[in-house]
Amino acid sequence: MSDATASGVRPVGVAVLGMGTVGAEVIRYMTENAEALAARIGAPLALRGVAVRDLTRDRGMDPELVTADPAALVARDDVDVVVELMGGIDLPRPLLLDALRSGKAVVTANKALLAEYTDELADAADSTQSDLYFEAAVAGAIPVIGPLRRSMAGDQVERVVGIVNGTTNYILSEMGSTGADYSETLAEASRLGYAEADPTADVEGYDAAAKAAILASIAFHSRVSAGDVYREGISRIAPADFESARDMDCTIKLLAICEKLQCADGTEGVSARVYPALLPNSHPLAAVGGAYNAVVVEAEAAGRLMFYGQGAGGSPTASAVLGDLVAAARNKVGAGRAPGESTYAALQVASMDEVATRYHVRMRVADKPGVLALVAAEFSNHGVSIAQVRQTEAETPEGAGEDAEPTAELTVLTHLASERALADTVSALTDQDAVTDVTSVIRLEGMDTE
Ligand code: NAP
Ligand code: HSE
Repeated sequence: MSDATASGVRPVGVAVLGMGTVGAEVIRYMTENAEALAARIGAPLALRGVAVRDLTRDRGMDPELVTADPAALVARDDVDVVVELMGGIDLPRPLLLDALRSGKAVVTANKALLAEYTDELADAADSTQSDLYFEAAVAGAIPVIGPLRRSMAGDQVERVVGIVNGTTNYILSEMGSTGADYSETLAEASRLGYAEADPTADVEGYDAAAKAAILASIAFHSRVSAGDVYREGISRIAPADFESARDMDCTIKLLAICEKLQCADGTEGVSARVYPALLPNSHPLAAVGGAYNAVVVEAEAAGRLMFYGQGAGGSPTASAVLGDLVAAARNKVGAGRAPGESTYAALQVASMDEVATRYHVRMRVADKPGVLALVAAEFSNHGVSIAQVRQTEAETPEGAGEDAEPTAELTVLTHLASERALADTVSALTDQDAVTDVTSVIRLEGMDTE
């Protein structure tokens, strides 16, 4: 990095807000690869300052550059590009709005902020013809925002399905392959820098929902925010679910699914949803293990495309941030601008009740004549067609007396059914005395047959 103007070229001034897992790596690569970046941009990058919370920590850099006042840093006249890697919403939101409204480019990895406030940020960027880049906000190192925004701008995207959270994919992969304990695996994901500061956002699906909102908005040129995304996390997935998955030659993945569908009123709409799902081992996303992410895009002309790579961690995420930084800096040098946000299609977001999927329902029932018929009747009464049923003897619960009724575990795999029909079926089953417990309901995705 350099402030020198020996070549007569004005450097591009950069403010980095946050020097944690991602920010530290961005600054390291900016420093180590300064010459190559300058050659690609056509001007050197000059780091004007780095905002952190804790000024007492040694950051291994000139202390003069480190500040606890991000607003003052953003406001400096010699800052052209603001790179936001702090996270959160309330703190970065006004900072980035101020930056964009004063004509500075913004690069951010902050999916939580974007999933709520892209409209506001995009308006601010439009007001000064500034750039707003956020490749790192979805799927870490994987270029997927750029391809959707630019390479596929002439195509009609129909569906985007992805594994977009590294922490949960790491946890599910470990649980599936080694039977590892959920909490231990989560602690390891945090240690490796995959998990958010509060891992609830990862394990309960909020992080994936924010990414689904961003993907759906861009893919379908419509406004989808995090609150529009149906969301379930992985904290209720049990070892027994993996046993069922193995029996069906499936695995379990937390999927983000964004697709066009026909709404109940006949208009075209968008569904965006996140939940753990059974996926056949033959599906391309089933082989995506560890903290890796992958996104499959299906489009009218392109057909099916798959993007795969490291979805979390400091260094991989820094790659996407640096790509955006180079693009933003080039635009500063060449007075150009990246394509802005487009929401012209304005598709409505469909409710989850309008979505149809297949289901794997596991329940504990009394093991006596007529129970299987009764269970089958409840599915039939609600218009849910059964594809497979499997019954195994259930272990007697601890402490149950010798005269306790024998129970069995029943797993039912359905054909395509609506969420409403399935929810009504489960509610009716729960009311039956012969059904002790509906232990789990997991959706099944990626099967060709209906
Ligand atoms: P992090 O490790 O928690 O780092 C956050 C940084 O922001 C720290 O340097 C912290 O300062 C600074 N900060 C926090 N509050 C501040 C305040 N009030 N004033 C000044 N500085 C403040 O976070 P991260 O994992 O790097 O994530 C950064 C962003 O990237 C988030 O939006 C996250 O969602 C996104 N992201 C992360 C990953 C990943 O794998 N980690 C991947 C993709 C996207 P101190 O150092 O003093 O604490
Ligand atoms: N916590 C996120 C994950 C970081 O695990 O995928 C990447 O956005």
